[in-house]
Amino acid sequence: MLGNLKPQAPDKILALMGEFKADPRQGKIDLGVGVYKDADGHTPIMRAVKKAEQRMLETETTKTYSALAGEPDFQKAMGELILGAGYNPALTAALATVGGTGAIRQALELARMASPDLRVFVSDPTWPNHVSIMNFMGLPVQTYRYFNDATRGVDFEGMKADLAGAKKGDVVLLHGCCHNPTGANLTLEQWAEVADILERTGATPLVDLAYQGFGDGLEEDAAGTRLIASRIPEVLIAASCSKNFGIYRERTGCLLAQCKDTATKDLAQGAMAFLNRQTYSFPPFHGAKIVATVLNTPELRADWMAELEEVRGGMLRLREQLANELAQLSGSDRFAFIAQHRGMFSRLGAKPEVVQKIKDEFAIYMVGDSRLNIAGLNDTTVPILARAIIEAGV
Ligand code: LMR
Repeated sequence: MLGNLKPQAPDKILALMGEFKADPRQGKIDLGVGVYKDADGHTPIMRAVKKAEQRMLETETTKTYSALAGEPDFQKAMGELILGAGYNPALTAALATVGGTGAIRQALELARMASPDLRVFVSDPTWPNHVSIMNFMGLPVQTYRYFNDATRGVDFEGMKADLAGAKKGDVVLLHGCCHNPTGANLTLEQWAEVADILERTGATPLVDLAYQGFGDGLEEDAAGTRLIASRIPEVLIAASCSKNFGIYRERTGCLLAQCKDTATKDLAQGAMAFLNRQTYSFPPFHGAKIVATVLNTPELRADWMAELEEVRGGMLRLREQLANELAQLSGSDRFAFIAQHRGMFSRLGAKPEVVQKIKDEFAIYMVGDSRLNIAGLNDTTVPILARAIIEAGV
């Protein structure tokens, strides 16, 4: 039976991780997978996370099953973190999931249960695994214009024109902040225009919020999502705790479904718990408990926020340093977009051959579409990258 399987193409981002590991060259630089790294190239455990785990170790008395949709303290803490004062638990179904990817998958499953003929609108480009999951599920994917290759900013006119083609029953996937892979984001005014289009078309937004706190700040990064949720009665939000809590391997994520009334919320809550049961039964507990403990303990929360700000500030400084270095080397401001982009990633706009050349000649790894992970840099490697970018002819 298993001999009938077709070989699967490896995930490009994960394959790049393996290739980097296997590269024996000294001084190689990993700007591939979206993982935060400090100046020493280490992905640290955040202070508040470690303290929460210590408390859990001392106080936990059982490892019995928890709740199918996740623990209420986690659901509430995430609802408040994401939606702020606009969070209404009476109208918002919540589900603990296996990471942000699990939240995306369950959101799409939920949407398909409610709207079997749906199409999913995704930005061009988007995180490759979005499209891969949709293809695997057999969902029709429709791309909308997003990135302007010339300006390296958002092609907002194109985006609006393409989103106008969505209709009731369709899902529009939006990146809440820190667009992956481009780093180019909507302004709040543009979010309001997207809300106008969603109102007009009746399509359901699915916001992927994987990097809250990595762009302009925890509140600022949720502002677009909150605006959509304040204007559109039915909204799906898939959030990841991998990056902002640095708990990648704990697989902690959350799906919120804001509903138009309590009866619909009950339906959604039931369907979401059912989806967990059908997929993996209970969601992982440990990471969700860390998150709930950090968010619900004032001193841990304050420390977490402070460390997250350090992480965010560090990435911003690296962006500015790289943009300055490139301005000097190129004698132009054509790389100024790097300082304007937000989050972990920027898309350089280089051709795959150039990305390959940078890897071959300089041992600098970025994703083939020329996405680079800013957090993979430090003060020493910024000038090395800048020189490679100019010498490779980007
Ligand atoms: C990325 O885009 O690099 C991250 O979201 C990690 C992943 O799973 O691809």
